[in-house]
Amino acid sequence: KEAKLWGGRFEESVTDAVERFTESISFDKELYKHDIMGSRAHASMLAQQGLMSTSDKDSILRGLDEIERRIENGEFNWRTDREDVHMNIEAALTDMIGEPAKKLHTARSRNDQVLTDFRLWCRDAIDKIVTYIKRLQVSLLTLALKNDGLIVPGYTHLQRAQPVLLSHLLLAYVEELDRDSGRLLDCRARMNYCPLGACALAGTGLPIDRFMTSKALGFTAPLRNSIDAVSDRDFVLEFLSANAITAVHLSRLGEEWVLWASEEFGFITPSDSVSTGSSIMPQKKNPDPMELVRGKSARVIGDLVTLLTLCKGLPHAYNRDLQEDKEPAFDSVKTVVGMLEVSAEFALNISFNQEKIQKALPAGHLDATTLADYLVKKGVPFRTAHDIVGRSVALCVPRNCELRNLSLDELRSISDVFDEDVYEFLGVENSIEKFSSYGSTGSACVADQLDYWVAKLELK
Ligand code: ARG
Repeated sequence: KEAKLWGGRFEESVTDAVERFTESISFDKELYKHDIMGSRAHASMLAQQGLMSTSDKDSILRGLDEIERRIENGEFNWRTDREDVHMNIEAALTDMIGEPAKKLHTARSRNDQVLTDFRLWCRDAIDKIVTYIKRLQVSLLTLALKNDGLIVPGYTHLQRAQPVLLSHLLLAYVEELDRDSGRLLDCRARMNYCPLGACALAGTGLPIDRFMTSKALGFTAPLRNSIDAVSDRDFVLEFLSANAITAVHLSRLGEEWVLWASEEFGFITPSDSVSTGSSIMPQKKNPDPMELVRGKSARVIGDLVTLLTLCKGLPHAYNRDLQEDKEPAFDSVKTVVGMLEVSAEFALNISFNQEKIQKALPAGHLDATTLADYLVKKGVPFRTAHDIVGRSVALCVPRNCELRNLSLDELRSISDVFDEDVYEFLGVENSIEKFSSYGSTGSACVADQLDYWVAKLELK
């Protein structure tokens, strides 16, 4: 067995079970690129500070390039006995270039190293997710533009409530997603501070330049406190929280589209390319991708809860428990990216069934609130207007008719405020146009929103 990098004081080697149990290479090799980036910056800083010769630095940099190349070509031998990504790369570098490699870990611990890698990784992951969020926003906006003017029932309590433009609803998702991006970018800004040089926990007496490495790695500044730098995981907690919120948004979208694809609603038809079938029922065509979007939100929430639970009660500073922080983060990112990607694809592959939607619109008295507003405009107090319209609806219910089918005499039997012009307020087409104040669903307001998003998402 090869001696461990930390093996000096040990008389026995660890058991196989312990080695298998404590390794992280099986998953943290995901960090290799960022680990190499960190080592490059660190070596350059050590050379500048006179802690390493320029020629040692140069051979380290060449060695790291070669290691990166081998990893990317699948030629690198990841070894479980070398425990984690950091020691795999350092030991491979030593195998390759010999003595100079032994200077690389000067004024560095795996504790600050792993956090440097992880923050860099999360930073890239955020940029990736933000790109996918934008793609979904563009798909939803495209869908909204394609179906401009289409009225659908709006729901509260899953009961028909008021007419809304489909584009208005689709833009509601776009708004949610925009805040999701915003949260990620806020988190990115707070995360972007450099732990490198905090070493194990107490910093170092060697004359390093933390500002140099921080700058070289694109961080805003080095973290001020070395204990904080190696102890806390709030940057990734915040990241996974933002992911969990995004996942919940996507899950609601998934639920809505699954419902709308049902025979009972029938508002949308997903194309075959985004549907799957049943192994027993030959007639089935299911909206599985969006069901899984709904389902996978559970993982993303679980990843956050795992990490919160992991960190709860840990004393300062580094504890090995923290090695468990990576898999939930990797899983969260991978899952959210998949959810975003498939939702965007689904959005581009559904069509709206005008006929079914038209059939749904007359039922449910979607124009009732508009009718109450009509009375308010004539000076009736809203509470009284609510009651008058309620009684008008009560007239319709046993007859199974719409408000606009009531005659003026019938309406007047409830309130003499009703006049001939009432019919301009009834029926979904009339009703929807009365929603005209800022942010409402009337076509002029929605056109403003569409313009805003077309410009913001650079659709044209
Ligand atoms: N693989 C470890 C982790 O991910 C690296 C840090 C190990 N530090 C230590 N003192 N054992 O947390």
